[in-house]
Amino acid sequence: MSLAGKHALVTGSSRGIGRGIALKLAESGVKVGIHYYQNERAANNTLEEIRKRGSNGFVIQADVTRPEQISGIFQRVKSEFGKLDIFVSNARPEVPAFFHPPLTITLEQWNTAFDSQAKAFLLGVREAVSLMGDSGRIFAITYAEGSRTGGLQPWVAMGSAKAAMECLVRYFAVALAKRGITVNAISPGWTEDSVMNTLPQQAQDLLRNWHQRGWTPMGRLGTPQDIGNVVALFCSEQASWITGQLIYADGGASLMNPEVPPEIQLN
Ligand SMILES: NC(=O)c1ccc[n+]([C@@H]2O[C@H](COP(=O)([O-])OP(=O)(O)OC[C@H]3O[C@@H](n4cnc5c(N)ncnc54)[C@H](OP(=O)(O)O)[C@@H]3O)[C@@H](O)[C@H]2O)c1
Repeated sequence: MSLAGKHALVTGSSRGIGRGIALKLAESGVKVGIHYYQNERAANNTLEEIRKRGSNGFVIQADVTRPEQISGIFQRVKSEFGKLDIFVSNARPEVPAFFHPPLTITLEQWNTAFDSQAKAFLLGVREAVSLMGDSGRIFAITYAEGSRTGGLQPWVAMGSAKAAMECLVRYFAVALAKRGITVNAISPGWTEDSVMNTLPQQAQDLLRNWHQRGWTPMGRLGTPQDIGNVVALFCSEQASWITGQLIYADGGASLMNPEVPPEIQLN
C-alpha cells in the first residue's frame, strides 16, 4: 500500500510501539517526524531506519506533559513539512511517574498521566488539524483494558487518562467529520519490544506464558510492527469511512471472558 507524498508525526517514536508505527509508515512512503523525550540516540536510530526504507523525516525532542513544548513540536512540523497528513499520539511517560494505587496516588502522578494523555491529545489534535488538509488521519494509542477494568490498581491514573483520551477521540471524530479527517483509537494488546521489556523478568515471564497459553487466541504477544500495520491500514483511502472507533489490535485477547480460565474457553 502506498502512502507516498504523505507526512506524519508520531509522538514517542524513539522506541517501542511508536517506532514500529514510524517504520511501517516509512515503508509505505510516508515522511515521519520522530519525537522523543530523553533518548536522542534511539530517536536518531529510528530516523536512520526510516532512511534505509527510502523515506526521510526529522527528530524533535519534547515533554508532552508541557503544553508549550507540544506547540513547539508542531512549529517544527510546519517548518520541516509545511503540512501534516497523519498524527499519532503515542508517547507515554515512564511507568514509575504514574504507577500508584488509587488510595495513595499523589496529584503529581495523577497529573502526569492526564497531562501526557488527555491534555496532550486535546492540544496535539488542535495543532495537527491546523496543518491538515481534508482526509487527514488522527490516532490515539490507548490501552482499553486499562481504561475499562479496575484490577491492576496502580494503573488507576493511566487507565483514567486513557479513558478520557478515548472519549476525546469520539468528540473530535464528530468535530472533524465534515473535513473528512478520521479520528480513531488503537488499543494494542501486550506488545514485545516495548515498555513490557523493562518489567522485572518474572513479570515478563508470567505475561508471556499467560498469553501464549491461550489468553491471546493467536498464541503470541503483539509486536510494534503489528501496530504499525494497523495504523498504515487505517491511513489508506479505503478506511475513510471509519471514524471515532476504538480498534483492538490484540490477536483476539479482548474476546476472552475474564471469568472463565482460558483452558476451558479454548476447548
Ligand atoms: N507496550 C504495550 O504492551 C502497550 C499495550 C497497550 C498500549 N500501549 C500504549 O502504546 C504506547 C507506547 O507504549 P510503549 O510500551 O511502546 O512505550 P515505551 O517503549 O515505553 O516508549 C515510550 C515513548 O514515549 C516517550 N516519552 C516518555 N516520556 C515522555 C514525555 N514525558 N514526553 C514525551 N514523550 C515521552 C519515550 O521517549 P524516550 O525514548 O526519549 O524516553 C518513548 O519514545 C503508550 O501510549 C502505551 O500506553 C502499550
